[in-house]
Amino acid sequence: MRLLGRRAKKVRRDHGRSGMRYEQLLAYVDANPSLSILEIGVARGRNALLMLEHARSRGGTPHYTGVDVFELMTEELRRAENTSAKKRPLSREQTLAELRKSVGAELADRIELHCGFSHDVLERFIEEGRRFDLIFIDAGHSFEAVSGDWERCQRLMGPDSTVVFDDYPNWGVGPTVSGIDPTRWRVRVLERADVVPREPTEDDPATRRSFQLVEVRPAMSPPAR
Ligand SMILES: C[S@@+](CC[C@H](N)C(=O)[O-])C[C@H]1O[C@@H](n2cnc3c(N)ncnc32)[C@H](O)[C@@H]1O
Repeated sequence: MRLLGRRAKKVRRDHGRSGMRYEQLLAYVDANPSLSILEIGVARGRNALLMLEHARSRGGTPHYTGVDVFELMTEELRRAENTSAKKRPLSREQTLAELRKSVGAELADRIELHCGFSHDVLERFIEEGRRFDLIFIDAGHSFEAVSGDWERCQRLMGPDSTVVFDDYPNWGVGPTVSGIDPTRWRVRVLERADVVPREPTEDDPATRRSFQLVEVRPAMSPPAR
């Protein structure tokens, strides 16, 4: 049996066996512990905390911006966007208070959370001319939601920025990634896959679903790692 390192143990404790792919996010933090992170789809802030704690352990001063519908989430939207009940968000205020308490005084002021539909909030960031080093797309999962997030993220990136999609190749993520222009972007499916059992349905007889992260960087940029 492979022995788990400390950080893999932490990922497993926070996410369970089906969340081991998230350990790969920490490589971006290793490369630049003072990076600016935009997470689209925060839920209860588990990956936010994972990345921020890791940056702190590397002596970094990261900045974290999270976008979620938080208290605006309805049961109808949750089902439509394939958000699991376990990841249903709390209010923005509660999530911010929890995150700030968990990361401690040093990083508390380096966290901002925005409540709203991602397309609207990202449009505002674009108008403000904001740029992020790492953008993690993990909000709505329909094609419309994911492709709309990606379209806007392109205007929030600099030459060395990285976008990471969660949940490839499921729902709207696979079709969005397939549509990315390889002459403009370098697309890499990250190695680690989480495989989760599922109930087959008439429309989809598969008994397992595989989840991977996909990294996208400008084609002219050097490889991230
Ligand atoms: C899968 S969860 C995010 C999990 C989180 N990234 C983590 O790793 O712990 C998806 C989140 O996206 C949010 N969401 C869904 N559709 C959204 C939309 N259109 N705009 C903003 N947030 C949305 C949901 O409220 C939910 O909290």
